[in-house]
Amino acid sequence: MTTRLQQQIEYYRARAPEYDEWFYRKGRYDHGPAHTKQWQQEVEIVHRQLHSGTRCEHILELAPGTGIWTQELAQLGERVTALDASPEMIAINRAKLAADHVEYALCDLFQWRPQQQVDMVFFGFWLSHVPADKLSSFLQAVRASLRPGGRLFIVDSREPDSSNPRTGTQSLGADRQQRELKDGRQYEIVKIYYQPQALTATLREHGFDIQVQATDSFFLYADGLRSA
Ligand SMILES: C[S@@+](CC[C@H](N)C(=O)[O-])C[C@H]1O[C@@H](n2cnc3c(N)ncnc32)[C@H](O)[C@@H]1O
Repeated sequence: MTTRLQQQIEYYRARAPEYDEWFYRKGRYDHGPAHTKQWQQEVEIVHRQLHSGTRCEHILELAPGTGIWTQELAQLGERVTALDASPEMIAINRAKLAADHVEYALCDLFQWRPQQQVDMVFFGFWLSHVPADKLSSFLQAVRASLRPGGRLFIVDSREPDSSNPRTGTQSLGADRQQRELKDGRQYEIVKIYYQPQALTATLREHGFDIQVQATDSFFLYADGLRSA
């Protein structure tokens, strides 16, 4: 039997070609012009915060997917290393960016043991897929991968915006969802929606000087530093 975390990898491998429709509010995720405008305005808030930081030497992006955020990070870092468990996601990301200073590696982040320290770590829409019993070890690995004083930036879902019959997403409880691809294939994955205050406390307990903020409807984001 495949475990939920294996299913999660398989889901994203299969979803790779249709993944961008979610972020760019196309197809099943098109909820009309007013919704798209609000979404774009909130994306812009996160972009502005991300680009308010100074350029740095080496950025590590965890679970980069198709490159929606990698393309931003490529403007901020002399070098970007992107680690994802899906070769299909990496292939799309690589083709989209075609950037010599972005390097990719296949990696299961639940087995990941960082070997070096970077200036900035970023992960988008990944933390919500980390099961509660693996959150602490994941955040310890993130801390180990970041130099003291290095920047941590996180963006994730605020509301279960995609939980609706049109997108085939169904809640299976506080930490699980059933997801459906356009061709009807179904997968069970981890999805946890955090409250900003509680997530801020968890991140601080793990050695980050950080504050989680929320946009009006869609996103949580956090921009902070690894404490010494
Ligand atoms: C929700 S997508 C986020 C992609 C991208 N960061 C974004 O914001 O568009 C989740 C990503 O996590 C990757 N992933 C799933 N399980 C993983 C694992 N165990 N280790 C590494 N990456 C994983 C998927 O392949 C996918 O690219």
